[in-house]
Amino acid sequence: MAKFKFYYIFFLQSLLLHSICHSTVTDVLCLKTLKASINDPNNFLNWKFDNTTEGSICKFTGVECWHQNENRVLNLRLSNMGLVGTFPRGIENCSSLTGLDLSSNNFTGPIPTNISKIIPFITSLDLSYNNFSGEIPVNLSQCSYLNTLNLQYNRLSGEIPWELIHLTRLIQINVANNLLSGPIPAFRSSVKTSYVNNMGLCGGSLGECPESGKGRMGVIIGSAIAGVVIVAVIVGSVLFFCLRKVPAKKRKKELEENRWAKNIKGAKEVKVC
Ligand SMILES: *[C@@H]1O[C@H](CO)[C@@H](O)[C@H](O)[C@H]1NC(C)=O
Ligand SMILES: *[C@@H]1O[C@H](CO)[C@@H](O)[C@H](O)[C@H]1NC(C)=O
Ligand SMILES: *[C@@H]1O[C@H](CO)[C@@H](O)[C@H](O)[C@H]1NC(C)=O
Ligand SMILES: *[C@@H]1O[C@H](CO)[C@@H](O)[C@H](O)[C@H]1NC(C)=O
Ligand SMILES: *[C@@H]1O[C@H](CO)[C@@H](O)[C@H](O)[C@H]1NC(C)=O
Ligand SMILES: *[C@@H]1O[C@H](CO)[C@@H](O)[C@H](O)[C@H]1NC(C)=O
Repeated sequence: MAKFKFYYIFFLQSLLLHSICHSTVTDVLCLKTLKASINDPNNFLNWKFDNTTEGSICKFTGVECWHQNENRVLNLRLSNMGLVGTFPRGIENCSSLTGLDLSSNNFTGPIPTNISKIIPFITSLDLSYNNFSGEIPVNLSQCSYLNTLNLQYNRLSGEIPWELIHLTRLIQINVANNLLSGPIPAFRSSVKTSYVNNMGLCGGSLGECPESGKGRMGVIIGSAIAGVVIVAVIVGSVLFFCLRKVPAKKRKKELEENRWAKNIKGAKEVKVC
């Protein structure tokens, strides 16, 4: 029993040591990759990586660590720095990150579709006031620790993924001032939502959605079938009359061969087509 306990403690200790060493090395790499992937015209990210002491990155502008003497990033606050670039995928190596604020910069391009693999422990995500485009990834619903999601003032389009209702810790979601359309997800009433200034969001508090895509498709298919039926009726009628014309011609030929009969019956001949 004592032996088991010893091994157990040893196991825990090595796991802890491993995770610390691993995370601190990769967190430095994370910031290096991040800096290299972003255009920083105002040189806000004057991060110097020559000091390898634990905790050195915790003094960097915008970087907040779990502990001041440990290179493990808790939050990245890079708001309003005039940064230009796409979503910095390098932050996947800040593996303990819980807060990311990239608001009020010039970020463009899509939010990665595997966002939950890049920032799995995120509680606060602020991408507002940028130029992010494309759809809100369904995978965001897998960021299960998410408390606040701020996406306002971007160029996001498409529908808001219904799966986001599975974010049980969500307190606030703001998607105002984008190009979103379609029905809004049925969030719990305690979730603070903001939807203003989009292309065509509807449902819930925003009022009933116009005829859904499926409904419209039904109307289109219905009209198509009606059209086909009408055309069939017309073609059928024309064929009916033209088929009557053939015997009429045949009859005419017979009558022509019989000249004396033509003289009598010619007056009665009726042209159909
Ligand atoms: C390196 O960083 C540590 C922790 O932030 C600091 O105490 C130390 O003075 C720094 N060393 C140099 C040479 O800047
Ligand atoms: C984004 O870039 C444009 C020019 O490309 C600039 O006019 C604008 O101020 C920038 N916005 C921010 C928030 O930095
Ligand atoms: C994360 O770190 C690993 C090495 O630990 C590296 O191979 C990988 O390219 C890094 N990921 C990104 C997106 O930079
Ligand atoms: C977004 O891009 C447009 C041009 O495409 C630009 O005028 C605008 O300043 C950008 N917005 C931000 C917040 O950078
Ligand atoms: C979405 O998240 C799940 C779980 O985190 C992951 O397994 C899956 O590969 C992700 N989807 C994409 C498109 O990356
Ligand atoms: C996310 O997806 C991109 C390709 O779209 C891939 O290169 C990257 O490795 C993925 N990141 C993770 C953490 O799965």
